Amino acid sequence: MEHIVDDDIESYLGHLQRTRDPVLLEMEARAAASKFPIIGPLVGRLCQQVAQSIGARDVFEMGSGFGYSTWWFAQAVGPGGRVVHTDGDAKKSAEAKSWIDKAGLGPRVHYEVGDACEVIKKYPGPFDIVFIDIDKHAYPDALELARSRVRVGGYIICDNTLWSGKVVLPASKQDADTRGVTRFNKDAFGAADLLTTIIPLRDGVALCLKISAAARDPKRKR
Ligand code: DHB
Ligand code: MG
Repeated sequence: MEHIVDDDIESYLGHLQRTRDPVLLEMEARAAASKFPIIGPLVGRLCQQVAQSIGARDVFEMGSGFGYSTWWFAQAVGPGGRVVHTDGDAKKSAEAKSWIDKAGLGPRVHYEVGDACEVIKKYPGPFDIVFIDIDKHAYPDALELARSRVRVGGYIICDNTLWSGKVVLPASKQDADTRGVTRFNKDAFGAADLLTTIIPLRDGVALCLKISAAARDPKRKR
C-alpha cells in the first residue's frame, strides 16, 4: 500500500497513543508478520471515538478479517453492546473469535460467515454504525445496503476511501476496485441523507453521518 500520510507524521501520531492492550499488540504483530491489511491503531481509535461519541451499542461490520477492527468496536459498545463480525472465510472468523475471547470481549461479538453484502440482508437494523472494509469493487453496493440500516445520528464508517491515492487516476486507468472506491465516494458525498467527510488518515477513512434528507437540504419538504 502506498502511504498517503507522511511516514514521520504517521510515526509521530503512533507515538502519541502508545498505551495499548497486550492482545491488541499481539494482533498487530500477527498482521505485520502476514502482511494482513488491518485498519491499524490510528484508524482503530477513530472508530472507537466515533462510536463512543454517539453512544453506539449495535455495530455491523462488513468485512472483519481476523477481528482487529472488531476489537475497537467491541471496546466502544461497552458491556451489553453488540458487534456483528462478518468474513467470507470460516478460518478468519474462528481466528477472530479466539482473539476477541482472549481480549475478554467475547459476549459482545456475534459471528457470521459469508459475503457481507448477503449477510447484512438478514439484518434489518437499525444499527448505530455500519463499518465497511470489504472487497473494494463491492463498495457501492455496500453503501446502499448500509444506508438503509443506519439510524439517523449513526454513522457509516468506511476504510480505504483514498485507496493508496489511486482515486485520482483518470477513469480510463482505474481498475474495478478503484472504480468501486471512487463510486462509493461520489455516492457518499452526493446522498441527501448522508453528511460525509473523508479523513486522510492511513488509507483514507470516510465518516458518513446519517441525517434525515430534510436536514441536509432545508428547502426540501419533510
Ligand atoms: C487492502 C484491503 C484493505 O482493506 C486495506 O485496508 C488495505 C489494503 C488490499 O486489498 O490491498
Ligand atoms: Mg481496509
